[in-house]
This record gives sequence, C-alpha cells and structure tokens, in this order.
Amino acid sequence: MTTKTILITGGAGFIGSHVVRLFVNKYPDYQIVNLDNLTYAGNLANLTDVESQPNYTFVKGDITDQKFITELFATYNFDGVIHLAAESHVDRSITSPMEFVLTNVVGTVNLLNASKELVKGGKAFDRFYHVSTDEVYGSLHDDSFFTEQTSYDPQSPYSASKASSDHFVRAYHNTYKLPVVISNCSNNYGPNQFPEKLIPLFINNIRQEKALPVYGKGENIRDWLYVVDHARAIDVVYHQGVLGETYNIGGHNEWTNIGLIKVLCKIMDRKLNRAEGSSEKLISYVTDRAGHDFRYAIDASKIQKELGWTPSLQFEEGIEKTIDWYIENESWLSFVTSGDYLNYYKQQYSK
Ligand code: NAD
Ligand code: DAU
Repeated sequence: MTTKTILITGGAGFIGSHVVRLFVNKYPDYQIVNLDNLTYAGNLANLTDVESQPNYTFVKGDITDQKFITELFATYNFDGVIHLAAESHVDRSITSPMEFVLTNVVGTVNLLNASKELVKGGKAFDRFYHVSTDEVYGSLHDDSFFTEQTSYDPQSPYSASKASSDHFVRAYHNTYKLPVVISNCSNNYGPNQFPEKLIPLFINNIRQEKALPVYGKGENIRDWLYVVDHARAIDVVYHQGVLGETYNIGGHNEWTNIGLIKVLCKIMDRKLNRAEGSSEKLISYVTDRAGHDFRYAIDASKIQKELGWTPSLQFEEGIEKTIDWYIENESWLSFVTSGDYLNYYKQQYSK
C-alpha cells in the first residue's frame, strides 16, 4: 500500500540518482516520482537497477514549465518534494548564467508555487526539501568553517542562483507558512558523477592519458563527501529535520586540489598497472577559473548533534570505490563523454 507519494526532482542526475535509489529501496510503501528533464547531466542509465520497481515512476519534464508543473502536481497530489534539479556546474554558469537563473531560480519558484497551492487546497503536505550547496556562503580565506549562521556571500553565477533559490524557499516558509527544510552540502564525489567535475574528469583523462587541467596553482581547497553519505543525510533531513531549519552537510575532509589530484594519480597508476609517477606527468597548470572560490569547509555539527547523521565512509575507502566504479563502468564513461561533451570540452579547455 502506498503511504506517501514523493516527488524527487533531478533524480536522473548524480546525487538525485543516489537519493532515488535509497528511497525506492528503503521505503517500498512510498511512491517515488522522479521528475527530470534529462539535460546533458541527466542519464536514466544511472537508475537501471530501480527502473522496474513498482514504487518508482519516471516523468520527463522541465521545472521551468509552469503549466506542466501545475498539471503534474494536480495528477499526483504529492505528499512531499525533494528538490535537486539544477544546473550544477560552476564553469558552465560562467559561460551561460541565464540557464542557471531559469532552472535554479524560476524552476524552484514554480515548484514552490505548486506546493503552496496543494497546502492552500487543504493537503497535509510533509515538506518542500530544497537541496542546496555550501557555495552560497562564498569563499573562506582563513581556517574557519561555514555554519548555518554564516552570511550568504555567493561569488559565481551558479552560487548566486542557488543562494537566490534558498532565499525564495525561506520566503515561502515565512510568508505562506509552507513547510520547508534546506540543506547545504559540500563537494560530493562517487559513482555516476558527470565528468565535467574535477574527480570524474581527471579519472577519465588519466584513463585516456590526456592532460590534467589544474586551474591556477591547484591550491584551492574543497571538503569532499561520498555521495551515498549525502543521500543518507537527505533521508534523515527529510524525515527528521525541523521545519524552517537549515542543515549543513559535509565530510570534514579537506583537500587542496593538487593534493587530491596526486592521490588520484597514485591510485590510478596502481590500478592500471602503470609505472609509479606516470599519471602525475599529465598534470598541466592552466588559466584559473574566473572568480575561483579559495576554500570551502563545512561545520556539520548541527546535523550530527540534532539528527545523529555522520559520514559512514572514510575518504580513503570512498575514493578507491569511486575509481573502481569508473574503471568498471567504462561504457558509461564513454557514452556520456561522446557527442556534445566533445564540444564542451574543446570550448572549456582550449582557452
Ligand atoms: P547534476 O547536474 O548531476 O544533476 C542535475 C539533474 O537535474 C540532471 O539530471 C538534470 O537533467 C536535471 N535538470 C536540470 N535542469 C532541469 C530542468 N529544467 N527540469 C528538470 N530537470 C532538470 O547535479 P548534482 O551534482 O547531482 O546536484 C544535484 C543538486 O545538489 C543540485 O541542486 C546542486 O546544486 C546540489 N549540490 C550538488 C553538490 C555536488 O557536489 N555535486 C553539492 C551540494 C549541493
Ligand atoms: O561545494 C559544492 C559544489 O561543489 C556544488 O554545489 C557544485 O554543484 C559542484 O559542481 C562543486 O563545485 P566546485 O566548483 O567546487 O566543483 P568542481 O568539480 O567543478 O571543481 C572542484 C575544484 O577543482 C575547484 O577548485 C576547481 C578545480 N578544477 C575543476 C575542474 C573541472 C580544476 O582545477 N580543473 C578542472 O578542470
């Protein structure tokens, strides 16, 4: 028997597919509706293991299409929403900011309006859960951490669009009493990440013995979390998070880019039976990203203390699992790096 119908947006993407898998398998009494427009980043091959489960439905559609969203909500009368659909790559936001405004801001407001109408119509609505990023807090230049009280200071068109959507979600809670919750997470890594992002891009290039384009001096710092641990946190926040609250999610796992890249090179040399040090020779320092945020670091003590979530996997284990997945899923990598990807790559890395 179905006890809840939950809309997950962006479920064919990297993080979304891990969230869909967790919810479909863990909650057989929930009907999970995955709404995704299948942009370059969305891939139904990420979900072949759950696609025939009776409690899973896929709907192809665009969150920026207001009429379509209104009809979708009327059809399914959702009990809750977990919103992950977004344009998510900082470099693309630098070349095409308007797409980020449309999907990340307008798309989010369409979903908020549809949820508000359900509540207005008397629906006992669980919550609108907005999945956001630590990039809304800006760039750290000292050894402090982002807490839930840190002021917003987005620096890229991507983070500005996510910050804007976070503000709309809070405004709908304050103004219309829409039950909402937000989480802001650090950099994710793991299987199924589109190879425009640092880790899968570099794994793919090492595999093909292609240059490794390190922005600037490679000294920027990121806090990495295994994607399945983020999905576990999303489960906890959806079910136990206090309405109106924000939860920071992070791995307490900071690496300079160059430090992380050297680890990737070393592990790949071992796994591909190449001479030690051969992948490091592929490192090529290139022009820095415009407005490149220096350091992100999350203080995740609130979600740990209040909701009992901590990461389950050490980075050493997570990165081995991740590299193994990309090596074993060469056909997935080859498929997503054909076609449009080649044009993107040429444009991004021939500057
Ligand atoms: P992704 O780019 O891999 O996936 C985004 C998904 O959204 C894709 O499946 C895409 O097809 C879909 N989508 C895009 N535009 C759409 C539209 N107009 N209508 C319907 N679907 C659309 O992104 P990701 O890395 O999985 O990130 C998911 C969410 O988590 C995003 O909101 C992102 O801001 C947030 N986040 C990501 C990270 C990270 O490290 N990747 C960290 C913190 C937060
Ligand atoms: O912090 C959370 C954010 O992490 C998410 O909200 C974003 O959706 C996600 O894309 C990610 O943003 P970053 O910009 O930190 O991730 P990216 O993988 O693009 O880059 C990680 C670091 O590596 C960053 O300092 C830039 C650098 N880099 C990246 C690429 C793609 C390079 O040096 N060379 C590259 O080719």
